[in-house]
Amino acid sequence: MEQLLRQIDDHKKEISSFNATDEKQVEDFRIKYLGSKGIVKAIMGEMKNVATENKKEAGQLLNEFKVFVEGKYNELKESAVGSQESSASTIDLSLPGDNLPIGSRHPVVLMRNRIVSIFQRLGFAVAEGPEIEDDWHNFGALNLPEHHPARDMQDTFYVQQNPDWVLRTHTSNVQIREMEKGKLPIRMVMPGRVYRNETVSARSHCFFHQVEGLYIDENVSFADLKQTLYFFVKEMYGKDVKVRFRPSYFPFTEPSAEMDVSCFICGGSGCNICKKTGWVEILGCGMVHPNVLTNCNIDPAKYTGFAFGMGIERPAMLKYEINDIRLFSENDVRFLKQFTSAI
Ligand code: DAH
Repeated sequence: MEQLLRQIDDHKKEISSFNATDEKQVEDFRIKYLGSKGIVKAIMGEMKNVATENKKEAGQLLNEFKVFVEGKYNELKESAVGSQESSASTIDLSLPGDNLPIGSRHPVVLMRNRIVSIFQRLGFAVAEGPEIEDDWHNFGALNLPEHHPARDMQDTFYVQQNPDWVLRTHTSNVQIREMEKGKLPIRMVMPGRVYRNETVSARSHCFFHQVEGLYIDENVSFADLKQTLYFFVKEMYGKDVKVRFRPSYFPFTEPSAEMDVSCFICGGSGCNICKKTGWVEILGCGMVHPNVLTNCNIDPAKYTGFAFGMGIERPAMLKYEINDIRLFSENDVRFLKQFTSAI
């Protein structure tokens, strides 16, 4: 009994002076005293050596000891958590933060936004359409029936699963989709990605982007087309740029034209960009062919309209002096991060 009392006293002293600064030390304490092979268990085991007349007193002492150890354990637990909280509050909040790199807009997106916003100012709405398209919307309705030689103007990717599906070769499919809805007048621009089965090189790619334009109403004339596109060119390339229309051919417009602007690199005197001609071609356009209107259930006797289509990559390449179209789709961050400012 004497010995037991001494043991308990010694442990109590040790325990009282025990301090823990983190959770690991608290856990070590628990294992040492309260674990299945710990000191409390060991001392309980001593009970069998205590004389019968002392057992009651010894039992009480041991219980008290156990409660004492448990109390200390809880105290340690709380103070360890508290000390961790207080170490968290010593973080210096005035230190400068880590710089997160800010993303930048893709040059094709910058150019698209710029083109679209000029037409928005003229009251054009924005529409989009599917990139996987059926033959009717990409060709047929645009006055390009099967076997029409003009289908060869654009090398087409066909979808193996369904011979009626193509990857759209131009954004003109959205014209048809909008006209089919039957809500007139229409004044819309339609940006999007298009696909052509072409060998990939610095100058051409198997996919690129276009912005299509469409205006259908009563009494829309070629003069409206010219005026709209003049406005666009002046906004886009500046007041001094010269414009010329060249007669052209597209099955979906009659008459058709292509529009050139005086080379904004050399000012028209001739350089590599304009191939020494002084002019850069920027878009195709024309008056919507009556057959196209009929295909979309619009009466060509009542309504007329104009349409145009332009690429996005080429003006972006000229604007940013990019000499390889493949850079647009390689996702090299060193290339992409250069285009941080709005244009
Ligand atoms: N779809 C033509 C192309 O991809 C561009 C075009 C020309 C669109 C004339 C038009 C247009 O709407 O009227 O080459």
